[in-house]
Amino acid sequence: MTAPIPFIPDRFKTNAAHYLAGRPAYSPQLIRRVAQACGLSGSHRLLDLGCGPGQLSLAFSSWVGAGLALDPEAEMLRVAAGLGAGIAPNIEYREGSSYDLSPALGRFRLAVIGRAFHWMDRADTLARLDALIEPEGAVALFSTAIVTDAPIAWLAPYHALLEEYAQSDPARLQRKADDWESHDAVLAKSAFAALERVSIVETRRVSVESLSARPLSMSSLTRERLGGRLDELLARIAELLDAHATDGWLDERIESTALIARRAGARS
Ligand SMILES: C[S@@+](CC[C@H](N)C(=O)[O-])C[C@H]1O[C@@H](n2cnc3c(N)ncnc32)[C@H](O)[C@@H]1O
Repeated sequence: MTAPIPFIPDRFKTNAAHYLAGRPAYSPQLIRRVAQACGLSGSHRLLDLGCGPGQLSLAFSSWVGAGLALDPEAEMLRVAAGLGAGIAPNIEYREGSSYDLSPALGRFRLAVIGRAFHWMDRADTLARLDALIEPEGAVALFSTAIVTDAPIAWLAPYHALLEEYAQSDPARLQRKADDWESHDAVLAKSAFAALERVSIVETRRVSVESLSARPLSMSSLTRERLGGRLDELLARIAELLDAHATDGWLDERIESTALIARRAGARS
């Protein structure tokens, strides 16, 4: 078992303001597939663990009776509460982390974790969730990835730039190391060992503005970490994207994936 990445509750403080603009959205089609696969009928409870700016809890809000969105970073919760205000009255936003999961939170049909499982002590989190998830319930890990099946001229140099400036981050080094266990392997050793992967691939228009906000949404590329090198990175990104964009827009192919993990024997 690989050691967990050290827990820093405010790791995403300065990223919060840029997160929704910078990160690819999850496909609405994927949300529907997961909701149906997990038998959500409008009455169950949902846990959004590491909710960040709350995209997942908002997307699931019409599929559940109530949701609890937990995150250790107050700025993320502020953005999340703003996103849900008036349209997701059944979602409660609360400060907390995987280390606060306890039966006092009640029972849930589904726990969703988007782009955040790697920040947790994964085995400990799954053991805690085992006490909270209903017998027929599930844990679903959400992620997005950029698909590189077709040549996109700006993509490789864009990623090379992000990698060049992010590579010294100790948390990133730990996660990219050869001995870092995959989420699948960690789940396979947990109570939630029955896995189903669902993914949707879409070509999307993306603005230069959004691709410029993407580095600012990443904890490995903060000003605190890079100082003046952040401005250098942003200038290099602007130069690269402007050379390829048409009226400030580019295309990218995004794969939105959910890894649904159930207990062996639970009905899908
Ligand atoms: C990359 S953001 C993901 C936000 C959102 N869930 C999404 O799908 O885009 C990771 C979030 O995990 C939170 N986080 C970090 N460590 C955590 C932990 N141990 N338990 C719960 N959340 C944690 C961070 O504060 C951050 O908001």
